[in-house]
Amino acid sequence: MPFAPARAWSRLLSASEIATATAALGARIAADYPSGELTLLGLLRGGLFFLADLARAIPAPLRIETLQPQSYFGALVSSGQVTLAPGSPRDLDLAGRDVILVDDIFDSGRTLRRVSDFCAAARARSVAAACLVVKDAPRAAEVEVRYRVADIPDRFVVGCGLDWDGLGRNLPDLWALDPSAPQDAARKQLLALLAHPA
Ligand code: IMP
Ligand code: MG
Repeated sequence: MPFAPARAWSRLLSASEIATATAALGARIAADYPSGELTLLGLLRGGLFFLADLARAIPAPLRIETLQPQSYFGALVSSGQVTLAPGSPRDLDLAGRDVILVDDIFDSGRTLRRVSDFCAAARARSVAAACLVVKDAPRAAEVEVRYRVADIPDRFVVGCGLDWDGLGRNLPDLWALDPSAPQDAARKQLLALLAHPA
């Protein structure tokens, strides 16, 4: 039987569920750092929208910085190597700062491990992590993700900043790929979702 085209992607989280949970996280973070002066270190590009939403949900004085780690290089699975975009770390002064790393997803753990180590080397006073979602996947590295919107199953997801080969980031909801869907059908359906968000 041919693969049913409408089924490659299913909605895991709606934009309104994400907004509600992000607002609650923002209040929690403000309460956890009563002295204020927090630095959100957003990881681009996936963390872009969560960074913008979370920052506006935290009623406290904030600095916003960004880094651009890379590990997927367009594929559906991580390459296993995390690189930081050359040049960007040099402009960052994290010494003595309370830093919260803000990323789209916690998967193998390699990205947050690499960036946490970078913050420690930059003499940050404290480092915590906030992720839109935490995937129930095997970890290559452990990092405590103190703040999260949701835990999700081990599926490839797009939307809310997450991409497949650069596309899908601007979908307001989070969509999970059926692992049995052929890639060409999945790609066509992603393009259809982008043109006509359901
Ligand atoms: P980790 O280093 O394996 O934890 O992966 C973190 C990075 O891989 C994330 O910041 C994403 O950019 C990317 N990633 C992991 N899982 C997915 C996914 O399901 N869809 C899209 N990108 C993903
Ligand atoms: Mg990322």
